[in-house]
Amino acid sequence: MALKRPSLSLCLGFLLISLIVPSSIARFVVEKNSLRVTSPDKIKGTYDSAIGNFGIPQYGGSMAGAVVYPKDDKKGCKEFDEFGISFQSKPGALPTFVLVDRGDCFFALKVWNAQKAGASAVLVADNMEEPLITMDTPEEDGSSAKYIENITIPSALIEKSFGETLKKALSNGDMVNVNLDWREAVPHPDDRVEYQLWTNSNDECGVKCDMLMEFVKDFRGAAQILEKGGYTQFTPHYITWYCPQSFTLSRQCKSQCINHGRYCAPDPEQDFSSGYDGKDVVLENLRQLCVFKVANETKKPWVWWDYVTDFQIRCPMKEKKYNKECADAVIKSLGLDSKKIDKCMGDPNADSDNPVLKEEQDAQVGKGSRGDVTILPTLVVNDRQYRGKLEKGAVLKAICSGFEETTEPAVCLSGDVETNECLDNNGGCWQDKAANITACRDTFRGRVCECPLVDGVQFKGDGYSHCEVSGSGRCKINNGGCWHQSQDGHTFSACLDVDGGKCQCPPGFKGDGVKSCVDVDECKERKACQCSACSCKNTWGSYECSCSGDLLYIRDHDTCISKSGTEGKSAWAAFWVILIGLAMAAGGGYLVYKYRLRSYMDSEIRAIMAQYMPLDSQAEVPNHVNDERA
Ligand SMILES: *[C@@H]1O[C@H](CO)[C@@H](O)[C@H](O)[C@H]1NC(C)=O
Ligand SMILES: *[C@@H]1O[C@H](CO)[C@@H](O)[C@H](O)[C@H]1NC(C)=O
Ligand SMILES: *[C@@H]1O[C@H](CO)[C@@H](O)[C@H](O)[C@H]1NC(C)=O
Repeated sequence: MALKRPSLSLCLGFLLISLIVPSSIARFVVEKNSLRVTSPDKIKGTYDSAIGNFGIPQYGGSMAGAVVYPKDDKKGCKEFDEFGISFQSKPGALPTFVLVDRGDCFFALKVWNAQKAGASAVLVADNMEEPLITMDTPEEDGSSAKYIENITIPSALIEKSFGETLKKALSNGDMVNVNLDWREAVPHPDDRVEYQLWTNSNDECGVKCDMLMEFVKDFRGAAQILEKGGYTQFTPHYITWYCPQSFTLSRQCKSQCINHGRYCAPDPEQDFSSGYDGKDVVLENLRQLCVFKVANETKKPWVWWDYVTDFQIRCPMKEKKYNKECADAVIKSLGLDSKKIDKCMGDPNADSDNPVLKEEQDAQVGKGSRGDVTILPTLVVNDRQYRGKLEKGAVLKAICSGFEETTEPAVCLSGDVETNECLDNNGGCWQDKAANITACRDTFRGRVCECPLVDGVQFKGDGYSHCEVSGSGRCKINNGGCWHQSQDGHTFSACLDVDGGKCQCPPGFKGDGVKSCVDVDECKERKACQCSACSCKNTWGSYECSCSGDLLYIRDHDTCISKSGTEGKSAWAAFWVILIGLAMAAGGGYLVYKYRLRSYMDSEIRAIMAQYMPLDSQAEVPNHVNDERA
């Protein structure tokens, strides 16, 4: 995941720490930040250091400094003032990173003393060989609580051996320069994290939009768990610009803005004459804000994540579906009140403020510790701007570090998000409740709506509003969506498994074949069984006809006939004629054969006898063989 992202975010892996809260139990993962020695050459390289649980890392990405190891007060437990030491760097010089030894007093006190003496950062060298630990604030210590609040410089613990390497280089008279790369950290005052994402519905602005969409999709699962559990309060925000008064009637402003130039977004294609306009983006942004508002009112603010991801998937600009119609379909599938959303959006052509967007513009202006929001995307966690990579893991970590220690939810500790989003409202996907078939599939990136493959039969459709079976085998699945019914031991189905399949009421029924097929009363409607001797009785899916007296009903002809009728006699006569004929033919054949055989024997005997005695008729002899073989 991480490697796919553009590198711009990689170099900004930073966040602020602000409030310092005396913690009770320091049971959390050591946040390592890399420390790079840039000079002297012989110790150049990257070393591990563990970020202190207090102080504020320098804002802006990385921080370079020159390391100083004080001659006295090497542990920094006393005020450096007492020794006449100052770390104040001269204007233009690199800031001072003070190296102190671990031991004798609280980490925080060392840092506090160094800060007071003008240090820009503190490196604490461990006093034993061990894996790095997190330097924490003292427990239940009233006197230290006062100054801990005021620590603003960053600090890090380094390994004993690395501390010695630095000291050796310094004692050689080398200038030791280092760079600190701080990992993200956020204020963690209580057990709820407030965070905001400044986002955009535009899906065609290149790498930035792709990255943002990817993030929203990836992060949705975690965001929803946090929100449902009441661990976070998330608010989406959308940046808009306004058109300068004198330009409100210009073509640019008209195509990019709504409410007479009050709220604008750049044209997605940078082309005012084609494709989508900036105002389409503003409108969709407004709709997403209203989706959030309406969802929040029904105490389900997390539905916003479903809406934005579904909208991305179902209504992309590329497919020319970035419009109200498609948005309404998404709103409907998520069970949101579209009337309320329309009402919230107001009239985009009105020459007046839109309260929702007005609020957004006001929120853009920075206050307190947060600057103006001018770039997208911007993530603000506990009122601190997140400067790290916009990636699920990193953001989750930042949010998780915003909880007071030990109050972080399980999702923060397991590092993984396990949930079956399909269990809730079927994930907003298509489903056939009767057949227990759903298009919702839970994946590690959240749920997807995809028409399923059931018993080797592939459903086709968008996965949200419809899925249908086609091809052979469809009647196996929920009877192909066609009508079917069982009654009195009979089952009838309207599913025909031919040419893509269709629903057609079986013979004896009429209807659309999908919702209903009703029995046809053959006696009345089809005029069946109407002969004078007939008596008709309708049954489900068919009819019964009986004939009065000794008559027999012939269904094919819909008529009653006498059991001893002429038809019967002639049939029997024909049978006998044929039987006798066959017998005679067989008998005749046998007689002919017998006669032939005898005459052959006769001539054979005669021929033999002729050799021994003269016979009366010689002429018969020579021909007998030929005659027999003819
Ligand atoms: C911390 O800063 C506040 C105001 O900035 C100040 O009033 C307070 O005296 C400071 N505390 C210490 C221990 O210096
Ligand atoms: C969402 O609802 C909560 C109360 O349920 C409220 O405190 C919060 O201000 C609402 N957020 C927005 C942006 O309306
Ligand atoms: C629906 O199917 C799933 C598995 O495919 C099963 O776990 C569930 O119990 C079924 N529900 C009903 C109502 O049949």
